[in-house]
Amino acid sequence: MAKLQYRGKATNDQQEIRATLSEFGVPYEHWGLRKTASVSDEEILQIYRPEIDRLMNERGYAAVDLVALHAETTNLEGILAKFTKEHHHTDDEVRFTVEGEGVFEIEATTNEFLKFTAEPGDLIVIPAGRRHSFYLTSRRQIRCIRLFQDKAGWEAIYDKPSVTVTNAAHDGKTL
Ligand SMILES: [Fe+2]
Repeated sequence: MAKLQYRGKATNDQQEIRATLSEFGVPYEHWGLRKTASVSDEEILQIYRPEIDRLMNERGYAAVDLVALHAETTNLEGILAKFTKEHHHTDDEVRFTVEGEGVFEIEATTNEFLKFTAEPGDLIVIPAGRRHSFYLTSRRQIRCIRLFQDKAGWEAIYDKPSVTVTNAAHDGKTL
């Protein structure tokens, strides 16, 4: 179950999470949990195909894949270090959590962050240009579906823009 912490309040209520994130231009959906344990990437894409196709049509995404991070991942700490530092991308960061969990801290207003914990069944879209960071929970594992407008751009941008950009057209992404 997703969790949202903001301004000292914490909630697991999906409607409240959706409403609060929406207030700050961050789409959230709960697609629900389906059988995913020991299921191949190709089968997972089939299982969630209706939702994937809808989101691609609605928001213009052109590519989809899966990513997994866990204790046995080569250079896990090095990979995570890239995301724990505040950054943004020039494209939306779209993540549907299939297994495990992860925390996204997303800029709401200047120096105020929404702390969103994604769990299996949760879809979140961090808009292009929105500052954020990502880290694993103590479970140290996550498996996500990712959607992209342009898979060519994957870089995290660490320099804060002088003017906060919230919905400009960009490309580029990482986890
Ligand atoms: Fe990111």
